[in-house]
Amino acid sequence: MDEAAPLLRVQGVTKRFDGVCALDRVSLAIGPGEIRGLIGPNGAGKSTLVNVVAGQTPPTEGAVWFRDRPLTRLRPHRIAAAGIARTFQTIQLFPDMTVLETVMVGRHARTHAGLWGALWRTWRAAAEEAAAREHALEILAFLGLAARRHVLARNLPSSQQRLLELGRALATDPSLLLLDEPAAGMTREERRRLAEIIRAVRARGPTVFLIEHDLGLIMEVCDRVTVLHFGRTIAEGTPAAVRADAAVIAAYLGTRRRRMAPERSPRRHGEHGEEAARDRLVPELPNVRTSEHPNTLSGS
Ligand SMILES: Nc1ncnc2c1ncn2[C@@H]1O[C@H](COP(=O)(O)OP(=O)(O)O)[C@@H](O)[C@H]1O
Ligand SMILES: [Mg+2]
Repeated sequence: MDEAAPLLRVQGVTKRFDGVCALDRVSLAIGPGEIRGLIGPNGAGKSTLVNVVAGQTPPTEGAVWFRDRPLTRLRPHRIAAAGIARTFQTIQLFPDMTVLETVMVGRHARTHAGLWGALWRTWRAAAEEAAAREHALEILAFLGLAARRHVLARNLPSSQQRLLELGRALATDPSLLLLDEPAAGMTREERRRLAEIIRAVRARGPTVFLIEHDLGLIMEVCDRVTVLHFGRTIAEGTPAAVRADAAVIAAYLGTRRRRMAPERSPRRHGEHGEEAARDRLVPELPNVRTSEHPNTLSGS
């Protein structure tokens, strides 16, 4: 896989927001068919990187290439049309659409007549509507949401809303799927099911870029993992290698120490030493407040 031309190439991407350098010369390449994980404490820049790739926010410097085509400066709908779909860390659904309509909207991003054509009920749109419906029903069956197809999106529990966002993204037939913390708020059982779904998605074709807080999911499904810390890539490799990486352990130990009051420090099973600390700390990615961001420029 490493030999293949990358599907996505992020090259020297920097993103500054007023005083904060959210991404600092980040480079990575994701091969076709890969499931790549992206982890890092809160505020590391993960969502910013997804937003840059999806065209929601322009990078301050650097470039993004998709199949050797530059994406930087393309509008989000053009990037979607090129084959990149995403879900959001903060769920973004139309609350009054049904589950089925939501996935069909995703499909309309791909159909020739488009959403407006569908609304005007042209002959072409009617045919496309039927195909979109069938395609949407297939996706809902795949996600285990078929029985809920007439339920309004807002009436779903958040774990199913996250699956529905995934369904809307899949409806565009993406080559690359960006998932921003899809397991947030899920139970252990729901996460296990999500892991199966992500593997099954990859088996159907799309390359997956999985942003996660939940290290368990990353360990289970990713081929390789990139670790961001304060906007910089501090490690990249297999899940096992990343988990054993000294810089990664130090980063998490550091943020955890700052955050935890000493009396709350876990002393389970008499564990001590770096290895025990890693096992204990890394699976729970700590929060880092923006105010602790070392890249905050002074005087702003
Ligand atoms: N739109 C924005 N305006 C200002 N600062 C932002 C904006 N988006 C993100 N940031 C800052 O950039 C840093 C990275 O944020 P983010 O990409 O959301 O991190 P993560 O997804 O890893 O938790 C944080 O310090 C955050 O406060
Ligand atoms: Mg985020």
